[in-house]
Amino acid sequence: MDSNKDVIILAIETSCDETSAAVIKNGREILSNVVSSQIESHERFGGVVPEIASRHHVEQITFIIEEAMEKGEVTFEDIDAIAVTEGPGLVGALLIGVNAAKALAFAHNIPLIGVHHIAGHIYANHFVEELTFPLLTLVVSGGHTELVYMEKHGSFEVIGETRDDAVGEAYDKVARTLGLPYPGGPHIDRLAHEGEATINFPRAWLESGSYDFSFSGLKSSVINKLHNAKQKGEELSTEEIAASFQESVIDVLVTKTMLAAKEKKVKRILLAGGVAANKGLRRELTAACSKHGLELTIPPISLCTDNAAMIGAAGTILYLQGKRSNDRLNGQPGLVL
Ligand code: KG4
Ligand code: ZN
Repeated sequence: MDSNKDVIILAIETSCDETSAAVIKNGREILSNVVSSQIESHERFGGVVPEIASRHHVEQITFIIEEAMEKGEVTFEDIDAIAVTEGPGLVGALLIGVNAAKALAFAHNIPLIGVHHIAGHIYANHFVEELTFPLLTLVVSGGHTELVYMEKHGSFEVIGETRDDAVGEAYDKVARTLGLPYPGGPHIDRLAHEGEATINFPRAWLESGSYDFSFSGLKSSVINKLHNAKQKGEELSTEEIAASFQESVIDVLVTKTMLAAKEKKVKRILLAGGVAANKGLRRELTAACSKHGLELTIPPISLCTDNAAMIGAAGTILYLQGKRSNDRLNGQPGLVL
């Protein structure tokens, strides 16, 4: 990075249910990171309602950007580029951030950079330490479960992904069956630490050599167990269910990550995405990496779930690589990494 001139990026994220704006210096320093969560509005529906998400983003976006600029103590004259999540995500939600970014870029004559949401989650790790390559990232969020190999900055090779549910999705569905509030991941995580993993739920290893994942069988198995017990009038311990479910998820995630790390001969592992906040996963991955002599980077909990700072970190790399978007930038719900 050119040490003579600081690179200041304004970043915007609106792909799901968080409206967020951040000001990032040289890709690794957070001058501000304002996150407005809509969880309360979606909670009573048990999941994110796209129309409600879009409406909240429209109401919030201008204030959130103003607040990020104020807290970051910058004006538009200081901003080198505006980075915005272009996809994947909810199309109506993405469009609010993309259009806000385009309008500001046009009005202030500032370069515009579209960023992939998962690249953002991965680059949340850049706030923790300088990334060394080649590396492997375990991406675990509400919409994604992937193993991503990176040879250098900005290069992403997905070597495994879920064939059905994402990990966060499985957490949220199991939590719902247990009668826990949305999003259920953090609740299961808490309960899992209060019980023993006494039930041997299935682990989907898939074909030998495959780094793909599958969580729908596990999810169904937990839900069936709960329904059967209810029909028989049996009481199951919520803590034991949570602990057993979590143990199965973590076993598969950590084992496959270690196998892939060995085959790809990487020395560094990153953890990324909302489920990276999971205490059990953080602990088990840390233990496995130390056993296998691998360096591990995990973002602080505040940067695991959706936020604009991570989009700014990934956007800075694109900026330095000379990548720019034009005024045809659009929200792309199915954008591939
Ligand atoms: O990355 P994220 O904020 O949004 C997406 O891009 O999908 O991830 C949200 C997901 C939700 O499914 C939520 O339940 C899960 O992350 N999550 C957790 C924990 N904290 C958030 N899952 C398990 N344990 C946690 N502590
Ligand atoms: Zn996310």
